[in-house]
Amino acid sequence: MNRKDEHIRLAKAFHKEKSNDFDAIRLIHNPLPQIATNDVSLQTAVLDHEEAFPFFINAMTGGSQKSQQINHDLALIAKECNLMMATGSVTATLKDESVQDSFKIVRKVNPDGFFLANIGAHNDLENAQRAVELFGANALQIHLNAPQELVMPEGDRAFGDWLDNIAEIIAKLDVPVVVKEVGFGMTRETMLQLISVGVQTIDVSGQGGTSFTQIENARRPKREMAYLSEFGQSTAISLLEAAQVTRSFEVIASGGIRNAFDIFKSLILGADTVGISATILNQLLSHGVDATIAMIESWQEDLILLYTMVGKKNTHALETVPVIFTDEVWQWCQARGID
Ligand code: FNR
Repeated sequence: MNRKDEHIRLAKAFHKEKSNDFDAIRLIHNPLPQIATNDVSLQTAVLDHEEAFPFFINAMTGGSQKSQQINHDLALIAKECNLMMATGSVTATLKDESVQDSFKIVRKVNPDGFFLANIGAHNDLENAQRAVELFGANALQIHLNAPQELVMPEGDRAFGDWLDNIAEIIAKLDVPVVVKEVGFGMTRETMLQLISVGVQTIDVSGQGGTSFTQIENARRPKREMAYLSEFGQSTAISLLEAAQVTRSFEVIASGGIRNAFDIFKSLILGADTVGISATILNQLLSHGVDATIAMIESWQEDLILLYTMVGKKNTHALETVPVIFTDEVWQWCQARGID
């Protein structure tokens, strides 16, 4: 089976509502919200534009016949729900024109949508430009996925040029760039390194949802590195790390988002917007386009209620909602001097 199709199959197979570090973030209740639902705006600003809702469909697929249908459906959902959307990595497709339609379909379905193209950090500026041109992407995501590559027998083994590639792309590409993890999270040290080469938007994409070490291990009979299945910093922890860095950059949360409450908690922890992959993919493959639109619309409604519950009229104001950290998140904060 095509590797991209296997990712879809295994991401769905492994997707289950499991506990993650968002459960260790507890809100301190305010019995006097003093606002009405009508006062609330969910808008957010990210990547030099305004978004009506503070969450989006994060990178997943493209590069095969089957993924063309999935990208078609995701783009339709993005259009109906007014969300921005990232495609999966276009890297392999730049060499294989026969599957380029699996990406171009998103622009056909949603001509005015805000789309992000996606490439690996081993790519140079020329590939970055070609990726953006492929379907007129409004922004570019560059993914960091070293643990995934190392678990794959056929994966990359040399990562020495990543920071230089990122620096060159950021300096010369004429659309905004996001540097993202793929589910292993980040620390403040990594974010400072990225900022030092000009990165302005970081998707921490943490542990707690899709695990690419688990997925790549499952693609072959001999699962030598199964112990890396839960590897990485959780999204909640990565956001707390981001909050330690002076806010000269935009923060995107992703990894393990299960519902509107996880989106809400991510925004409280300082995210400017929140990316969702597996939860949307699973709903789409299990129940279809209409049910996925219904799920997303219910999240949009829930968020209005949640903002009202804590007495905050806009996304930016959520940063002042008081929370308590428990369990492993608390231990991480102690060990890393986060208060
Ligand atoms: C992904 N993800 C991903 N990320 C990326 O930067 N480029 C890619 O091509 C892909 N491909 C991909 C395929 C599938 C099937 C899934 C589920 C995910 C990673 C994704 O963008 C995100 O960082 C992680 O999946 C964590 O988020 P969730 O899935 O826990 O919401």
